[in-house]
Amino acid sequence: MDVMGKTVDRLVVRGGSPLIGCLDASGSKNACLPIMAASILACGVVELERVPNISDVGTMSKILTVLGVGVEFDKENGHMILDSTNILTTVAPEEYVSRMNASFDVMGPLLARCGEGEVGLPGGCRLGQRRVNYHIEVFKKLGAEVTTTGGSVKAKVPGGRLKGGLYTFPTVSVGATENAMMAAVLADGVTVLEGCAREPEVTDLANFLVTMGAKIEGIGTQTLRIEGVKRLHGTKYRVMADRIEACTYLVGAVMTKGDITVNKFESKYCRSFLDCLRQAGQEVIEGGDYIRVKGGRPILPLDIVTAPYPGFATDLHPPMVAMLALAEGVSSLQETIFDGRFMYIMELVRLGADLLCSGNYVRIRHVDHYVGAPVNAPDIRAGGALILAALAAEGESLIRGVRYIDRGYQNIEAMLKSLGGDIRRVTVPLTELE
Ligand code: UD1
Repeated sequence: MDVMGKTVDRLVVRGGSPLIGCLDASGSKNACLPIMAASILACGVVELERVPNISDVGTMSKILTVLGVGVEFDKENGHMILDSTNILTTVAPEEYVSRMNASFDVMGPLLARCGEGEVGLPGGCRLGQRRVNYHIEVFKKLGAEVTTTGGSVKAKVPGGRLKGGLYTFPTVSVGATENAMMAAVLADGVTVLEGCAREPEVTDLANFLVTMGAKIEGIGTQTLRIEGVKRLHGTKYRVMADRIEACTYLVGAVMTKGDITVNKFESKYCRSFLDCLRQAGQEVIEGGDYIRVKGGRPILPLDIVTAPYPGFATDLHPPMVAMLALAEGVSSLQETIFDGRFMYIMELVRLGADLLCSGNYVRIRHVDHYVGAPVNAPDIRAGGALILAALAAEGESLIRGVRYIDRGYQNIEAMLKSLGGDIRRVTVPLTELE
């Protein structure tokens, strides 16, 4: 039965064709979302290039539009113009905020620019508990009064302007480091943040803020020293390439015994991932602005532990497990960042993988090949892993949960088709059973 005429997308994948060819890296989702939020800080117009056409960018655009930011997005060319001259409200719209964790990125800029903000608590994300306690602790250190009621975080700065302070993050947090930076750039005085995340996307945000006139020292290190300025101006900036997307496709070259080159991409951002591919016996060729991976060699087993940058990225955990299921021996992966990241394990098992999960650890035993099956993508990166397994499988797979995949992978079926993958999108009526 149709649910009020609504439809839902599925991906139909027929495995067996090697992925061969070249593609350009898209703009980074995880860099672009905080950069878009940071446009709130500008007295002027921000112009962005290489903005990915993914649904999370659409969600952030809607949140910013409600706040009063003028957003124009040329999806074909990845060109976006954000005009924050007038902020109309400091209350972020709940219906969009609840769609993605990164919505909370607007809180730091709202506090810095307007002295107040109200943003819903991140919704029940499938990677596990997504707490914002570090974000709140930093805002308090900088002088904000923060309360959490009715599912929302409300923050207000007495006097309207944050004051510089010292904060040490108890553990590494990408989002909290970004929010703290965005709050501190317009604060009175100096802020020192210790134990910061060093992810390239944090660095990209910092570089963007500097082009707006922010004063930040220690970019790319664990300690950031930020001298608040009175105002920030508009700027033009090119978002960094998406290392998670690029590496997902490169794993596809190994799994399908193909040969993929990702252009417009600097390999220095995925050193630990490339080291793993080489240890797994794969041929990796690094150029100045491209990476090529040639599959076809036997895959050797690995033992991987995810870690904050420069360690092995948690977002590459599912694609790597999908690859290691085909390795000749027993592999393991320990997840240290998100306790709920294992939702996809049973889906890979449906496709034929031999996986055993215990706590935050998964043991991966060799199987000869995957076999097509209907599967559900439970989150963005798990979705990427399931598509790769389906492309490597014998037979046809039907992938549900495409809305997660669309949050983070730009034109995924067009990209994969251009590499020779047999994948198509079908739109079907949404039934009560979904
Ligand atoms: C970002 C990325 C996500 C990536 C993750 C880790 C974006 C939009 N998303 O997510 O793709 O997987 O970094 O590289 O950039 N934590 C707390 N309290 C806090 C904040 C975090 O306990 O206030 C915990 C989290 O529950 C998690 C860990 O710290 O266990 C790391 O989370 P964090 O680095 O903040 O991830 P995000 O910024 O949400």
